[in-house]
Amino acid sequence: MTKVLVTGSAGFIGSHVVEALEAGGHEVAGLDLRSGYDLRDTAVLDRLLPGADVVVHQAAKVGLGVNVADLPDYASVNVYGTAVLLAAMAEHGVGRLVLASSMVVYGEGAYDCARHGRVRPGPRSASDMSRGSFEPRCPRCGEGVVLAAIDEEAPTDPRNAYATTKLAQEHLAASWARETGGTVTALRYHNVYGPRMPRNTPYSGVAAIFRSALEAGCAPRVFEDGGQMRDFVHVRDVADANVAALTCGEPGTLTVYNIASGEPHTVGEMARILAAQRGGPNPVTTGEYRLGDVRHIVASPHRAAAELGFQARIGFAEGMKEFATAPLA
Ligand code: UD1
Repeated sequence: MTKVLVTGSAGFIGSHVVEALEAGGHEVAGLDLRSGYDLRDTAVLDRLLPGADVVVHQAAKVGLGVNVADLPDYASVNVYGTAVLLAAMAEHGVGRLVLASSMVVYGEGAYDCARHGRVRPGPRSASDMSRGSFEPRCPRCGEGVVLAAIDEEAPTDPRNAYATTKLAQEHLAASWARETGGTVTALRYHNVYGPRMPRNTPYSGVAAIFRSALEAGCAPRVFEDGGQMRDFVHVRDVADANVAALTCGEPGTLTVYNIASGEPHTVGEMARILAAQRGGPNPVTTGEYRLGDVRHIVASPHRAAAELGFQARIGFAEGMKEFATAPLA
């Protein structure tokens, strides 16, 4: 039995992590802003950390953000909060961290160009997108490229405030590991969905937005041409990955893993399956776009399978069927 402190324990992913840990026979303490406990409050950490073996750090301000007015809050909750946590862990001799990271640290997905091999296209231009030209092109020759699964060796390219803070968390944790001999496992979640996903807010991911629309009797609005690929991974699989990560890693280092289903689908497909499972209305593809959205990002799940023994168990059809009618938070 391991004594685990879960931050963000009342949140969407955190609450499933708590359930999975308890089912695995671990002793769990939780910390969550919703229950009045702020990660940035050292007095709270001084009370909760002594005796803990591992911290599973899920607390974060999530989503894309609305505008630059959000920057201080992202930096404070995600970066400063993690720094306070790491310092307190060192003080209380807690040497193991499982960190909720994100695929957004990669930016755009990986692509192969026939002439230039593996390439990483930059952000797409407004002029291309407004002409309905959504596919990235080779940054060197401008020709078409073929999507590849991204692995953990890919360079990072955070493109928004949230992504920047998630990468900063990884860097802070890596430096903590080096200096203290601690062990960090960072789980780069792909698009997590499932029961208790927060309903539609400006910070929500697409699965929650579509699900909320359907609940309100509205058609999901699919941006671009609906061909954007993502890896939708079920929250109970993500929780299991966190349990597997309790005992992995090397002292003094940070190891990163993609946490994904290994079964990519398009945003259009996701909208259609959810709508079908709820009996409509059918999605509409609007051609709208958001600057800064990446076109495709699909994960290689191989490292997590080989080293964490993690393999998603809930397939797309099964998971989306449940999600179509599951309660949102
Ligand atoms: C999302 C999360 C990101 C998280 C990552 C991995 C948000 C805003 N983004 O990134 O924080 O780290 O998953 O879990 O939470 N779309 C529509 N219609 C809509 C809204 C979006 O078609 O109403 C499209 C977008 O244009 C995009 C795709 O859906 O192509 C995914 O959007 P979204 O879930 O917001 O962002 P991700 O880039 O996947």
